[in-house]
Amino acid sequence: VIDVAFTRAELRPVDIAVVIDVLRATSTATRALAAGYERVICTDSIERALALRAPGRTLAGERGCVIPPGFDLGNSPLESARRYTDELVLATTNGAPAIVAASETAGTVLLACLLNMDAVLSALRAACAGTTRTVQVVCAGTDDTPALEDAYVAGRLCAGLKGSRSDAALIAQSVAASHSSPLAALSASANACVLVKVGCADDITYCARESVLDTLPRVDDAGGGVATMTDAAPHRRAPRHARRSSMVASALRLYS
Ligand code: MLT
Repeated sequence: VIDVAFTRAELRPVDIAVVIDVLRATSTATRALAAGYERVICTDSIERALALRAPGRTLAGERGCVIPPGFDLGNSPLESARRYTDELVLATTNGAPAIVAASETAGTVLLACLLNMDAVLSALRAACAGTTRTVQVVCAGTDDTPALEDAYVAGRLCAGLKGSRSDAALIAQSVAASHSSPLAALSASANACVLVKVGCADDITYCARESVLDTLPRVDDAGGGVATMTDAAPHRRAPRHARRSSMVASALRLYS
């Protein structure tokens, strides 16, 4: 069964959780891994991120969509497109805590956004083929309420998967079907208005780009308010012609 949680409060134990905060935490984390960061470490608070400050780490994040004092970068996929160190520590209001929370309830946690939509769909199809694995698409939402842009991406993911689905998944699919394009859906959201106000309109346009990265962020380690993810698609090391087959093989290994 494919289910959708519109907020963290609806999290339930499943085999695979796919966390979405398209504006902007999962877009930033995906872009960072694509840029060559070895690990992205999500934290459930600003304080915990500051406590993780160490050589080899860059601190990125936001409060009210603005870079917090003491941080190196904002929560922006455009800023995380350049790698400065081996690890990016990411602290955000809704997305990073949702990733940490999902890591406590799901066997496997993947991160999705529009940038890596096809990579996530390929991995999910491979992982679920011929099995009864349960999947929950977890929207980060905004301050414990649903966010339009996350519901849109959740609906797009659900529409791309076979199998039975919950009413929440059907609702998300209806949201996705009612928007003409990713940019139309993202631009109509309350979070987009806030981003425009703080001068981050370019992030909205970038986050609306679809399937331009084959990065597959997967949580490898979690606990104590922290979740650490790496890119589970080994495309960086594989020769170009071997990328597609190695991605599928990697997806199968994820759940074996
Ligand atoms: C969040 O985690 O609340 C968002 O990613 C906020 C933002 O886009 O800056």
